Amino acid sequence: MNLNVNIPNNFITTEEWNQLEPYAIHAYKLLTEKSGEGKEFTGWIHLPELTLNNKNWMNSLFQLKKLYSEINIDSLVIIGIGGSYMGTKAIHFALTSHLITQENSIPVLYLGHHIEPTYYYHALRWLESRHPLVIVISKSGTTTEPAIAFRFIRKWIEETFPHESARRIIAITDARKGSLRKLADEKGYTSFAIPDDVGGRFSVLTSVGLVPLTLLGINPEALLEGAMDMQKICLERSQLNKNPALLYATWRHAFLSRGRPIEVWTTFYPQLYYLGEWWKQLFGESEGKQGKGIFPTTLTYTTDLHSMGQYIQDGSRIMFETMISIETPSHDVTIPCLPDNLDDLHYIEGKNLSYVNQKAEDGTIMAHVDGNVPVIRISIPELNEYHLGQLIYFFEFACGISSYMFNVNPFDQPGVEAYKNNMFRLLGKI
Ligand code: PA5
Repeated sequence: MNLNVNIPNNFITTEEWNQLEPYAIHAYKLLTEKSGEGKEFTGWIHLPELTLNNKNWMNSLFQLKKLYSEINIDSLVIIGIGGSYMGTKAIHFALTSHLITQENSIPVLYLGHHIEPTYYYHALRWLESRHPLVIVISKSGTTTEPAIAFRFIRKWIEETFPHESARRIIAITDARKGSLRKLADEKGYTSFAIPDDVGGRFSVLTSVGLVPLTLLGINPEALLEGAMDMQKICLERSQLNKNPALLYATWRHAFLSRGRPIEVWTTFYPQLYYLGEWWKQLFGESEGKQGKGIFPTTLTYTTDLHSMGQYIQDGSRIMFETMISIETPSHDVTIPCLPDNLDDLHYIEGKNLSYVNQKAEDGTIMAHVDGNVPVIRISIPELNEYHLGQLIYFFEFACGISSYMFNVNPFDQPGVEAYKNNMFRLLGKI
């Protein structure tokens, strides 16, 4: 079963929809014919299928797990920022965050996604009793935050494991360019190349995500199979009403044209928190340029119904909502029956918690639609690698279309340079 998209009725007129359709179809063509701005970074479009068919590459991925038996590894350090770590963290968190005791899952330290010193202090203390495998990821191989993190870790590894330091490091970077490539080649690290034609935030299904996720015990084949099935749906269906990603992208523009410049990505499944962060980066960095774009933000329910719920229901009508749901949770529990009714919960005792969570979701959608916040509901049958693969490809494809509908290049990020230039000047680099 596939991902399903439910869209609101009656928010815009047929005439308005018909006006948007040619823009959507044009954007679809630019993306699928690889003829739009940034076309040199559209390698991700056919990648799930190509990767699954590349048996040698898939084997090299599985071979990596042998490292666990060859050297003593009790933890992973994953270094990267933005598109170089966000997808890994999203999938890792979605599939393991419910394991409160973290039994059967290897401890992971994420580093290089900021430069706050207290975190570093504790991270370095934590490492003192560990035997980690380090995965350092940077497409350019020159990004400051992961480079700083890797400098700390490299010094520590070289001093602590002088005879096997190179075996404890895997570098994922450009095939030829950048400081990290130079380091990997000179020091003899195991390394993986990131395809030239795939940019950071579209790269989770390349070595960028697949290497760390495989080492985390997550099934890369199932992820790719989900993505490949969504690839087929997105590429084979060129009609607006038949293609879920094209529909979603077009609805976003419909809402914007009706004065809704903010998209709130919500879920009643807190495991999807970092998937929301990944989505936010994908759309924010791809669309937000030249004074255009829909502002992406996220909320997790029911938690945030007790904070931002008031605003969504009753504040300025500037947003629409995209709700991600899971039809059947992996596990369920039943609300206990008690002889007394001192907590006034008699009306739900004996019911599954999934039932209560579902009613909270249904009630919230009704309330928000009544409050004039349109809701798109996107659901997957279950939370597993296959359906996460579908979701990832779905959002990447929709993001490419939506960005082209804004007439911007989805695959660059010129605005990111502004803070870097100031920081480098203040630090005396330039
Ligand atoms: O989407 C992007 O291109 C960015 O978010 C990058 O992934 C991020 O800036 C990290 O870049 P790099 O992998 O070159 O270190």
